[in-house]
Amino acid sequence: MNILGIETSCDETAAAVVIAGQRVRSNVISSQISLHRVHGGVVPELAARQHITAIVPVVETALAEADVIRSALDAIAVTIGPGLAGSLLVGVNAAKALAYALDRPLVAVNHLEAHIYANWLGPVGAAPPRPPAFPLVCLLVSGGHTELIEMTGHGRFRQIGRTLDDAAGEAFDKGARLLGLGYPGGPAIQHAAAAGNPASFDLPRAWLRDSYDFSFSGLKTALHRLVEPYRDDLPAPPDALDSSPSGPFVAHRPPRLKPGTPIHDLAASFQRAIIEPLAVKTARAARETNARTVVLAGGVAANEALRDAVRTEVERECGPEVIVSIPAAVYCTDNAAMVAGAAYFAVRRGVQAGWETDVRPRFPLTG
Ligand SMILES: Nc1ncnc2c1ncn2[C@@H]1O[C@H](COP(=O)(O)OP(=O)(O)OP(=O)(O)O)[C@@H](O)[C@H]1O
Ligand SMILES: [Mg+2]
Repeated sequence: MNILGIETSCDETAAAVVIAGQRVRSNVISSQISLHRVHGGVVPELAARQHITAIVPVVETALAEADVIRSALDAIAVTIGPGLAGSLLVGVNAAKALAYALDRPLVAVNHLEAHIYANWLGPVGAAPPRPPAFPLVCLLVSGGHTELIEMTGHGRFRQIGRTLDDAAGEAFDKGARLLGLGYPGGPAIQHAAAAGNPASFDLPRAWLRDSYDFSFSGLKTALHRLVEPYRDDLPAPPDALDSSPSGPFVAHRPPRLKPGTPIHDLAASFQRAIIEPLAVKTARAARETNARTVVLAGGVAANEALRDAVRTEVERECGPEVIVSIPAAVYCTDNAAMVAGAAYFAVRRGVQAGWETDVRPRFPLTG
């Protein structure tokens, strides 16, 4: 079964063709990072407009790279939420138009479910991996969500933990902003941390014992205090200000830190403080729910230090028989292969969407 997936929930316009939920024929992503960078974060109105420009070429490229003609598609899948309403509308309307014109089923996909199904995907054009065995525990860590989920079968999710405030990706992004490392923050912190010592600074961990919940807002405040003495309050020279190519918006001005600021050590200590509770609680959840597999999902799962920490903690807590599965980095951040993948397993359960399908900017995975 060839499914075309479409993803426009935030700032990536993406389309992909996937066979039977696992075999990826194409995976095309048009990133808007450079458009939003000057603002220090995603501007919803700009994102929606850019999706309108990009959606048709991205879909055409995905079909061409997959070497699939439209009539060979069996279903059209699209993310309907959670995400930015204006962005979601572009993908949902493109998917409806294609499904209607081709007389194929439309499949409405939850973006968080799609992130989890990234674990079923193989490299483009190559054989897929062995599917993760149930029951599994998933640590879903993205820009807008941080959840621990137990999955007992396809489409069967139970939330066992969540963040009480910021998402892990949000913490990375805000921390990077405080450190003047730019946007998006996760990759920037990972890069800076590689040359730093994570034991240099003592930052708090909100352990919230006896629960699988997380909290990162105190950590952000602690970093803010730690960075305060290093701030250079001189006004930025005019040529240091970005000018926006996208209109009359005020450009984002990263804070300036004094020369000699231990930026690598700060980044490494901050990264460690985010990762530790995530890895420890994931491993504990796996043991306490008798999981056979632990999977990671979402943009923060691309973080090398988190990947290593989860592998180490799960092995320590559960032993070698619990398998840790982590998607390739390209399937951790937003993409459409994961949407087409999740749709296949939904179609097998008889899920199909009607023409009245609307976007769902708030769309919890469970409950
Ligand atoms: N290597 C990395 N290390 C840490 N964080 C990372 C890394 N790469 C990306 N991220 C973070 O991942 C987030 C983006 O992930 P993703 O695309 O899944 O989020 P989103 O789609 O915006 O949010 P959601 O999926 O919750 O709707 C950003 O916060 C980014 O900083
Ligand atoms: Mg996402």
